[in-house]
Amino acid sequence: MTPRWAGKCEACGGWNTIVEEAPRDEVPKGLSGKAGRRIDFVGLEGQAAPLPRLITAIAELDRVCGGGLVPGSALLVGGDPGIGKSTLLLQAAASLSRGSAVAYISGEEAVDQVRMRAQRLGLAKAGVRLASATSLRDIIATLDGGDSPGVVVIDSIQTVYADSIDSAPGTVSQVRACAHELIRLAKRRGFVLFLVGHVTKEGTIAGPRVLEHMVDTVLYFEGDRGHHFRILRAVKNRFGATDEIGVFEMTDRGLAEVANPSALFLAERRGNVAGSCVYAGMEGTRPMLVEIQALVAPSTLSSPRRAVVGWDSSRLSMVLAVLDARCGLALSGNDVYLNVAGGLRIAEPAADLAVAAALVSSASDTPVAADMVVFGEVGLSGEVRAVAQTDSRLKEAAKLGFAQALVPASLRKGRTHPAGNGLAIQPIGHLQDVLGLFRRGQ
Ligand code: TYD
Ligand code: MG
Repeated sequence: MTPRWAGKCEACGGWNTIVEEAPRDEVPKGLSGKAGRRIDFVGLEGQAAPLPRLITAIAELDRVCGGGLVPGSALLVGGDPGIGKSTLLLQAAASLSRGSAVAYISGEEAVDQVRMRAQRLGLAKAGVRLASATSLRDIIATLDGGDSPGVVVIDSIQTVYADSIDSAPGTVSQVRACAHELIRLAKRRGFVLFLVGHVTKEGTIAGPRVLEHMVDTVLYFEGDRGHHFRILRAVKNRFGATDEIGVFEMTDRGLAEVANPSALFLAERRGNVAGSCVYAGMEGTRPMLVEIQALVAPSTLSSPRRAVVGWDSSRLSMVLAVLDARCGLALSGNDVYLNVAGGLRIAEPAADLAVAAALVSSASDTPVAADMVVFGEVGLSGEVRAVAQTDSRLKEAAKLGFAQALVPASLRKGRTHPAGNGLAIQPIGHLQDVLGLFRRGQ
């Protein structure tokens, strides 16, 4: 508050930064004149029609979207350039074109390029309406015409521009304005709108982040260029759960669904190697077994290396500190490398115990049994804590032929293990017990 005109802000020292605001008790200018209409409130209980859904028939995509696509909704598909967004959406478009009219508008590639991709994917015969366009005005005019399609793909939103805005395509103001208009049209005409957005490094180009709050669903397509598999992850979904993932494999004929990801992630595992341990993890509602690899080697550096791929490095520091302080296993003179095989990223604390087992296994040069899975959270005093969805984890392990499971001891209490899965359960109460296992050579 300043009682009179001021050119310089006393608080921050900035010039011309003070803005005049009307006092509280005045009617704000924007609302003067007409009175508003009263809004009717209703109870939370009542009839809500189930949402109709368009099914893409790509099961991994449908599941991540919460069981199909909701007409009138907008989905943002983000990801690094070259990760496979266009491929995925062309495949989805082709599949959807069997039931609805689908328009694929590419601003990145010429019509011929998209046609060549369609041919390679064996989708050239699909009834997708293809166009190469970047002018928002033309796109809106076309989609708002007589028979608007049921599904529209805009590849990518960074290439679309509104001629009423001065800045270049891909800038925050362009991306926001174009997305806003397209989303409004989608709601009005009731079509499903896919917006492709490249994830970009910080800079003047707007990445998908500026759009996240505008759309109904945000999907990120992730993966390592060096690996074949790709993960489609829902980070926001107004019509479904957000912790679902879809797993795909990039083949020479496009993206193939991976119905059994555990088998894929464990495919190249060699049993009986010290430092390797199979973690029974969860991704959303899906159990997923992955191999965690650790390498502990004597270091010549004054501050030894800690390198982590696919896991949180501060979590690794914590497990190392607990092993040191609570179990007497000091690795401070060693380089420690940790790798989640296959390029998957794990975020669950439930992987702590598996990481610890891999570390101890490598440090003691004793392999973890090849038919064993491990999961459990490790607390700061070294206690092993129970984790959620134990049954799903154990069932998946049994399904893939594992015979033993190293699990938190607290599971024993009041919990029954699913009968008939045939796993020998080894309860672990404290991280110290893991060291005991390796000393005995298991
Ligand atoms: P693309 O869908 O163009 O990526 P984005 O739209 O996210 O930029 O995918 C490009 C990559 O995918 C490219 O490196 C080649 C590879 N690819 C295949 O391996 N097999 C295929 O059948 C297709 C169409 C692409
Ligand atoms: Mg593309």
